[in-house]
Amino acid sequence: MTGERSAPVDSEGAGSVPRAGSGEGSGARPTGRLVGRLIGVGVGPGDPDLLTRKAVAVLGSVAHVVAPTLSDVAVGRAEAIVREALPAVTLHRMVFPMDRGTPGPVASSLRPVAEWLSQGEDVAFVTLGDPNCYSTFWSVVAALEDCGARPTVETVPGIMAFQQLSAMMGRCLVDGAEPLSVVTALDGTADLERALQDPEAAVVVYKAGRNMPAVAEQLRSAGRLEGSVAGELLGLPGERVGPAESLAATPCTYLATVAVPPLSRSGQDRS
Ligand SMILES: C[S@@+](CC[C@H](N)C(=O)[O-])C[C@H]1O[C@@H](n2cnc3c(N)ncnc32)[C@H](O)[C@@H]1O
Repeated sequence: MTGERSAPVDSEGAGSVPRAGSGEGSGARPTGRLVGRLIGVGVGPGDPDLLTRKAVAVLGSVAHVVAPTLSDVAVGRAEAIVREALPAVTLHRMVFPMDRGTPGPVASSLRPVAEWLSQGEDVAFVTLGDPNCYSTFWSVVAALEDCGARPTVETVPGIMAFQQLSAMMGRCLVDGAEPLSVVTALDGTADLERALQDPEAAVVVYKAGRNMPAVAEQLRSAGRLEGSVAGELLGLPGERVGPAESLAATPCTYLATVAVPPLSRSGQDRS
């Protein structure tokens, strides 16, 4: 599963891909309760310094570390973070192609994981940010279960992109009893529009990417563009951070996040 070095790519947005056992080679063979632990480890948004001590300890102690990628010859974002923070760790790649079927890994890269787990060997799967929020990790669990395997699952939380964005902008995102809505703009701005109906709620927009101009337009029409901040490729090569309006002039990469403060605090620009 390992390949040559190449530019990091992200597979977190792999939208349409075959699950294990759906045609590409055969699926994960071992079935029933797998005795090794499958541990989803959040590695933060990009800066290797944002790996937690617990993540470092787990990655240094498990038998195998697996990272998602779009191709077995491409370095995924999570792999790049681990390589920088822990150069001695050997990573295996799990391929999540972008182009077809149901989101999930290809069977050929899932099978070794099932074998290791069945032999009682612990496997850590690294994922950007946190493994329990919009992560490929749970599609690995689902793919194993689709094949009849029952992995023992644990997760190690990671720092999320919107936390890093708030930190870089020196902003308090929510305070007191203010609610926080997290929406995605993957399929447009309908969820954002709903979230903006509460002027006292802070809103985080994930998967803004190509819809960034539409996100900015939605914010403008709700009177929330001023004070909103955006971050693209946080902690990674090509990072851009600033007022949402400035980043929204053109579509962004998939790794783009917008943070919208409550209306009553939107004028508190400390930058
Ligand atoms: C599939 S989700 C992964 C979320 C991740 N599990 C987390 O907890 O932050 C991908 C989205 O997370 C956000 N994201 C993750 N890493 C990012 C980064 N380095 N810079 C900006 N946004 C990022 C973007 O909104 C991106 O579209």
